[in-house]
Amino acid sequence: MKSTNIFETHSRVTKELRAERIGHKGGVLWLTGLSGAGKSTLATELEHRLFHSGYNVYVLDGDNVRHGLSSNLAFSPEDRAENIRRVGEVCGLFADAGFVTIAAFISPYRDDRTVARQASGDSFHEVFVNADLATCEARDTKGLYKRARQGEIAEFTGISAPYEEPLNAELQVDTMNRTVGSCIDTLEDYVGKNFKL
Ligand code: ADX
Repeated sequence: MKSTNIFETHSRVTKELRAERIGHKGGVLWLTGLSGAGKSTLATELEHRLFHSGYNVYVLDGDNVRHGLSSNLAFSPEDRAENIRRVGEVCGLFADAGFVTIAAFISPYRDDRTVARQASGDSFHEVFVNADLATCEARDTKGLYKRARQGEIAEFTGISAPYEEPLNAELQVDTMNRTVGSCIDTLEDYVGKNFKL
């Protein structure tokens, strides 16, 4: 923390008041998993479904955030930590504003995910989007695994950089053996149970 002599302002519009007007609680669904596991696909589909069911919902996605908020960051452990710290804080603000906030980031390090969790307190829900490396590499939707294997991309998660699986995720969806629709059903059900007033 570099800032000093700073004082917090407290809003008179509480989280509870916002939730009452919106009709549901705000919070964070944090999707973590390998590149190609299906995080962005699930985030986009879930957002669409929840929006049309009347939820205030918003997606923050790694590839998008890295064009703006995190455009000065690369993929070293330090840069990933800073990416996840920033996004964790932003998610906390969105959750506070009453949104079901869906975050889709590889977020490969457990410690970084803990930092993100701490920014949202008990409204943070970690979701392990589980597809193993062989599956993600076979999909290779962006052609990045091939390039990483050829040595064209350094520090690529799963190839030349680690992925630390969650130990205590609130929810796990297996995208290796289940369809997108079935995973979305599980996620929608989870939101229905955990974001209701
Ligand atoms: S994170 O590790 O900091 O959480 P983030 O989710 O924001 O990563 O970004 C991951 C996306 O960046 C991947 O989906 C992929 O398209 C792209 N990417 C580019 N280089 C790398 C790399 N070295 N490792 C992982 N993903 C990369």
